[in-house]
Amino acid sequence: MQDQLPKTSLGKTEIQITRLGYGSGHRKPMNDKQRDVILNAVVDAGINIIDTAISYGNSEQLIGKFLKDKRDKFYLATKGNLWDAGSLETQLNQSLKRLKTDYVDIYQLHNPTPAQCISGELLDALNKFKKSGKCRWIGVSTSQPYFKEFIEWNSFDIFQVPYSALQMENEKMINIAGGNGAGVIINGAVALGEPNIGKGSKLIWDNFENYKLQEFLDVNETKTSFMLRFTLSNDNAHTAIVGTTNPKHLESNIKSVLQGPLEADLYNQVKKRIMANLQI
Ligand SMILES: NC(=O)c1ccc[n+]([C@@H]2O[C@H](COP(=O)([O-])OP(=O)(O)OC[C@H]3O[C@@H](n4cnc5c(N)ncnc54)[C@H](OP(=O)(O)O)[C@@H]3O)[C@@H](O)[C@H]2O)c1
Repeated sequence: MQDQLPKTSLGKTEIQITRLGYGSGHRKPMNDKQRDVILNAVVDAGINIIDTAISYGNSEQLIGKFLKDKRDKFYLATKGNLWDAGSLETQLNQSLKRLKTDYVDIYQLHNPTPAQCISGELLDALNKFKKSGKCRWIGVSTSQPYFKEFIEWNSFDIFQVPYSALQMENEKMINIAGGNGAGVIINGAVALGEPNIGKGSKLIWDNFENYKLQEFLDVNETKTSFMLRFTLSNDNAHTAIVGTTNPKHLESNIKSVLQGPLEADLYNQVKKRIMANLQI
């Protein structure tokens, strides 16, 4: 039997989620059969959190079809992106229909500004959805500069933000949010994968060499694996919802997460190296 993926508590929700999640906002074209194959591999690996959004093509429909008899095996997170309460409710109802479920575990606002949340009275709307049982927890997918303000509102159960060794601007706020008891879901955990293998840009990935991070790689370790292990070395990054269209990449991400975080001493050296470069 395959080793079990490590789990952690998603903040105060206290649900135990696998530290490797699955993001279905695919960056490469996939047909329905390929998506079915990858979702099966996700289930078989014991990954128990899947992230989608109403705006990710037919992702919700496929997940709904796939999860029909497996709803209890997953925590489902989706997102809406209309900024008035009535339209957002219509979107949530559409998502539930597509996902073939009565509720989602996490309902997230998909990249709003704080001003849009206020003028659309979106927090009231989210709390209404929560009270009605259509979602269990409410969140926002965001990034700096808005992340800080959203944390200060003290109203969201969950934050979804990008974070990796090549994208560090949210780290401080991730630690504050996690320290306050919020659940933190990470996207961009592998900076889209190495260029020409995944979808990462050369411009961003050149920093891997510029920071001389290759010096820290284990024997035979890929840069993408190192990136994932770095992201998950931060205990406040509760789960990394890595997106992949490639079963071999999924397998290698599982292997990386099973290998565990970077050893503390190494992690501190890597952090120091990144920070020194960011200060230049
Ligand atoms: N604002 C938002 O709410 C927001 C924004 C971005 C993402 N998200 C969510 O987060 C999920 C993941 O985010 P993301 O796609 O931005 O970033 P990501 O997970 O860092 O990158 C995904 C890319 O990495 C590649 N990849 C994955 N594993 C790999 C491996 N082992 N080796 C090489 N390449 C690998 C994939 O290519 P292959 O297909 O070839 O494996 C894919 O193109 C999305 O699916 C979505 O659910 C949300």
